[in-house]
Amino acid sequence: MSKGAAKDQLVEKLNERTATIAVVGLGYVGLPLACALAEAGHRVIGIDSSLDKVEGVNAGHSHIDDVPSAQVRRLVGDRNLGATTEYEAARKCDAAIIAVPTPIDEYRVPDLTFVRSAAESLSQVMPKGSLVVLESTTYPGTTEEVVVTAFRERGYMPGVDIFIGYSPERLDPGNAKWDIHNTPKVVCGLTKNCLETVIALYSTIVEKLVPVSNIRTAEITKLFENIFRGVNIALVNEFQVICDAFDIDVWEVIQACSTKPYGFTAFYPGPGLGGHCVPVDPFYLAWKAREKNVNTEFIELSGRVNASMPAYVVGNAAKLLNANRKSL
Ligand SMILES: NC(=O)c1ccc[n+]([C@@H]2O[C@H](COP(=O)([O-])OP(=O)(O)OC[C@H]3O[C@@H](n4cnc5c(N)ncnc54)[C@H](O)[C@@H]3O)[C@@H](O)[C@H]2O)c1
Repeated sequence: MSKGAAKDQLVEKLNERTATIAVVGLGYVGLPLACALAEAGHRVIGIDSSLDKVEGVNAGHSHIDDVPSAQVRRLVGDRNLGATTEYEAARKCDAAIIAVPTPIDEYRVPDLTFVRSAAESLSQVMPKGSLVVLESTTYPGTTEEVVVTAFRERGYMPGVDIFIGYSPERLDPGNAKWDIHNTPKVVCGLTKNCLETVIALYSTIVEKLVPVSNIRTAEITKLFENIFRGVNIALVNEFQVICDAFDIDVWEVIQACSTKPYGFTAFYPGPGLGGHCVPVDPFYLAWKAREKNVNTEFIELSGRVNASMPAYVVGNAAKLLNANRKSL
């Protein structure tokens, strides 16, 4: 079959929602994604190394707050959703999405063990003419270094025998306004044909797709979004310390600044960085940038400022308590 014919066949299956899709990693990102794809009419198989999660999903239980168990139960009952620990299941799949963890170690070095293992396992089983998309947050170059390499080693020609893409997840757990359907999604493919298949896949669940010209760009957009937040949170945290020194209420300052209709985005001070991504993701770029001898001073500085906030907040709390004759 020509590469154009394989691509057309896959795009048609995805458009008609007759495709079988594997979602690798059924966590905060993977389970909502698997459910959205199943709701859209695809047959979805979740592959997760945790037997507990797999058994839970198959029994109709959700382990993620944003996904109701009733939905999982219905999708499993309708045979649109199932879960397994076995990568063998992907042998019958038309597409696979990788949503496994990308943590850092104690030296803030990216740990790609999970991505590597998922890519290598998929490379052994995905059929020719199928699509593999990486969604895990990571540094620019990962998709090519890890996913493309795994399929090359199997003897597949990326873009011809296998379509490969990257699409960062923008999920904001608990956000009632912006969900998987109405949050615009950055997408990219290794080749033009790859991109067409990626677009066909995600357009069945996302209203607005934002294609970018190459995979490294797609990978770094996610990092920049989170670095932007981390740096601005650090700035407002430092500003709080400055305002406190002048006996000025930083919250009133932010409120007043927020009335400016352009050029100002409100961020709020606090005891530290919340969530899973913002404290971790910037260090993926800081680590990779060293390879290019490029400094990432904003990342390091904001990390230091944000890390100093818990002690500052506790110190303030102690002062307030002392003033009220209470001890910490
Ligand atoms: N949680 C968020 O809000 C969020 C938002 C945007 C992006 N991300 C990114 O998405 C990715 C996934 O994050 P998450 O929060 O869903 O992680 P998670 O820890 O909630 O879930 C990951 C799942 O992958 C499974 N797993 C690990 N290795 C596996 C393997 N080799 N094969 C199969 N399953 C495996 C784990 O058992 C777990 O269930 C990360 O790169 C993260 O940075 C997360």
